[in-house]
Amino acid sequence: MTRRPLASTTVREALDSALIALSASGVETPRLDAEVLLAHALGVDRGMLIAYPDRDLTGEQARWFIDASRRRRMREPVAYITGFKGFRRLDLQVDRRVLIPRPETEHLVEAALSLPVGARVADVGTGSGAVALALKDERPDLIVFGTDVSADALDVARSNAARLGLDVSFVHGNLTAGLEVDAVVSNPPYVEQHAALAPEITQYEPALALYGDIDGLSVIRMLVKDVRAPFLALEHGQGQADAIGELARAAGFVSMERVRDLAGIERVLVAQRAR
Ligand SMILES: C[S@@+](CC[C@H](N)C(=O)[O-])C[C@H]1O[C@@H](n2cnc3c(N)ncnc32)[C@H](O)[C@@H]1O
Repeated sequence: MTRRPLASTTVREALDSALIALSASGVETPRLDAEVLLAHALGVDRGMLIAYPDRDLTGEQARWFIDASRRRRMREPVAYITGFKGFRRLDLQVDRRVLIPRPETEHLVEAALSLPVGARVADVGTGSGAVALALKDERPDLIVFGTDVSADALDVARSNAARLGLDVSFVHGNLTAGLEVDAVVSNPPYVEQHAALAPEITQYEPALALYGDIDGLSVIRMLVKDVRAPFLALEHGQGQADAIGELARAAGFVSMERVRDLAGIERVLVAQRAR
């Protein structure tokens, strides 16, 4: 009989033990998370884990996976542990300085894809640069800016732009930072101050990226007044579309379109001024 060294662990064993530990810690998707982390440790697709369950982990892979599972048990988001998050066609580097880009924010990018050729666009509250970079990637003719009040977030955005070779200018400043543009897109902080959120969010993501005061609308109120551009696409929370529509109307926007996310929730308001 061939004996494996005592310390060696197979893919199946590693996944099984992580699954038990993550489930016990209340992680919502323990199998998926364990697979994503182990695939990252091995540098393979998740499908390879299923195809080769008896493959041995190297010592280094096993140590990384044990530490990654420990971090996940503490409810750290998978994207902060791997350091990457997919968004549209891009793989973005993320860490605790920025919000992890969400799938629903892809609708914000879609809302701006029909802008006229060569339009100047500002992504307000750019965070990791997700929206600005995806727009430049899919519409290279656009002149794209990203603003943020967080200098730390802008460091992440600039590093993503450099790594992906995308020509976006990032500006440190409040709201539109005085940029003269044809369109503003934004996924601003819009969570109500006392909202019940998962520990993955409250303990790890930057509060500056999340909260918009008591009703979630404080940054949006300022932003809608600040925008001079004729086109504004704004991501918002569930149930906020009516209030934001009123704010936009008061600021001179006339045409409003509401975009729902894949769960059927109103998620993006596209407002335009008469030209
Ligand atoms: C919800 S996060 C969105 C990040 C990124 N755009 C995304 O969709 O993944 C909001 C971002 O807005 C920034 N922010 C908060 N208040 C701001 C303000 N007054 N002006 C500009 N940016 C602001 C935060 O630092 C954070 O990066």
